[in-house]
Amino acid sequence: MKRIKLILKKRPLVCLTANNIYTAEILDNFCDIILVGDSLGMVVYGENTTNKVTLDMMIGHGKAVRKGIKKSIMVVDMPKGTYEKSSLLALKNAKKIRKLTRCDALKLEGGTEIIKSIKILKKNNIPVMSHIGLQPQKISNKKKFRVLGKKKVEEKKVINDLISVEKAGSFAVVLESVTLNLTKKINKISKIPVIGIGASKNCDGQILVTEDLLGLFEKSPKFVKRYENLRYKIKIAAKKYRSEVIKGIFPGKNNIYN
Ligand code: KIV
Repeated sequence: MKRIKLILKKRPLVCLTANNIYTAEILDNFCDIILVGDSLGMVVYGENTTNKVTLDMMIGHGKAVRKGIKKSIMVVDMPKGTYEKSSLLALKNAKKIRKLTRCDALKLEGGTEIIKSIKILKKNNIPVMSHIGLQPQKISNKKKFRVLGKKKVEEKKVINDLISVEKAGSFAVVLESVTLNLTKKINKISKIPVIGIGASKNCDGQILVTEDLLGLFEKSPKFVKRYENLRYKIKIAAKKYRSEVIKGIFPGKNNIYN
């Protein structure tokens, strides 16, 4: 990923998620990397975790996002159960996602335990972005989302994961929800770009879930900054529409065909 290296000489990487064409079209002007993240299971489908996301869901959303991207690097998440148990299964599913979505790279959650899958993808010229630290696919209950790195054993695990995925050939790594201290250590050790989410600004780039940034939900994790309050804006617009329909103001003369 030469493009990433060139950008990093000048500034941090700007990354966001997209799951539909319209968001992708807008974000393409401002992002280096657009991720079709399996967080769509939560932010689009209303599930409590990402556990029920399927390969077909990722492919469907990936195809839509592809239509909206002209210049950004498009990465698609491999959902839970599609790559961890066997490297051959990982390769088969990765090839399918890549062929149908024409994405530039795939993201796989996990460290030491999935290096065979990362290696086989790399060998088959499929660029891999890793995801270490908090790994949402391993969480079966929303309440278990937490910060890692306060305990030595957690710190050691995340560092080992980084070293493993780097050696296996990942071109970059997402580091999620870890302490400032651990983020600094990871960034010191890492030879590949580290993209943080809930991991401070001591990273090579940042990523957020776009719906969080837009303020679509009542609650978001502490690491999210809401740049808009779309939940409120949608409410106001829908309220006004309701009122105008009831009062006979809408459709007005500009909204009809003579
Ligand atoms: O699924 C997702 O949106 C992600 C980001 C949180 C990095 O993995």
